[in-house]
Amino acid sequence: MNYIDKLFKLEGKTALITGGGGVLAGAIGCGLAQAGVKIILADINLEKAVANAGTIIEKSCSAHGIFMDALDPVSIRDACTRILKENDSIDILINAAGGNIPGATISPDKTIFDLNLDDFDRVSDLNYKSTLLPTLEVGRIMARQKSGSIINISSMAAMRTITRVVGYSAAKAAVSNFTRWMAMEMAMKHSGLIRVNAIAPGFFIGDQNRALLTNPDGTPTERGRLVIQNTPMGRFGEADELIGAVLFLASDAASFVTGVILPIDGGFSFHSGV
Ligand SMILES: NC(=O)c1ccc[n+]([C@@H]2O[C@H](COP(=O)([O-])OP(=O)(O)OC[C@H]3O[C@@H](n4cnc5c(N)ncnc54)[C@H](O)[C@@H]3O)[C@@H](O)[C@H]2O)c1
Repeated sequence: MNYIDKLFKLEGKTALITGGGGVLAGAIGCGLAQAGVKIILADINLEKAVANAGTIIEKSCSAHGIFMDALDPVSIRDACTRILKENDSIDILINAAGGNIPGATISPDKTIFDLNLDDFDRVSDLNYKSTLLPTLEVGRIMARQKSGSIINISSMAAMRTITRVVGYSAAKAAVSNFTRWMAMEMAMKHSGLIRVNAIAPGFFIGDQNRALLTNPDGTPTERGRLVIQNTPMGRFGEADELIGAVLFLASDAASFVTGVILPIDGGFSFHSGV
């Protein structure tokens, strides 16, 4: 095997992907599977996880769709126990469960003082706690293994102010902050071979934001048009454009990379709009 292939080698590793029935998780799972990683797609929506696993299996790669609630420590532990019965280790954790909740947004006819606090808590749990809890369970396993790569999913909403999505933004900012904190903790107290990073996707069409960004005929809504206008590359991202960054962060090619929040955004995060 040549040096570069060895650097990016992931063959034989096992990855747990939460929110595994989702659009981005499906694409990431597909990419990792084609690098020889055994993929476990875990979701509260078992049907969607199994469907994404089916797409991967069609490519003659290894994947399973399982039920797991990323907000329930017992469910997470059960899933990890089942995975470790069939595999020696969990080498990669991708925390992709998440999304927005309409009640935690401030629509143009409302102000921050109309904020629904219950929905604010819900969106916080859906994104932050769903990252924290699997990280604690799998992090403990990786600490025993003395190796592993954890990849969280942050967002542009954690880097820039984006109208309406106040709850989601706060939750993703917490994900970014926890990514750095956990990277420090794992490296200093457990092993320099356990790394924690995040990707921060720009705007990709998923189930959670399709109606917000596109009309039923596929053309961009006014908000979608603003996003494209403020993205120097002038378009939404395609889900499989996340794969390269995930392969890098999961592999030894990133052996000295930890605590990084990597934008994959066509330039949205640095563009002033002017
Ligand atoms: N699509 C984008 O443009 C975009 C941009 C930035 C960040 N993100 C983030 O990327 C991640 C995936 O987004 P997507 O667009 O693929 O969304 P998606 O709605 O297609 O997928 C999210 C998945 O998470 C699952 N889920 C929800 N609660 C769960 C729980 N408690 N336990 C397990 N699974 C649970 C859902 O069933 C769903 O299958 C999310 O964290 C999202 O916030 C998406």
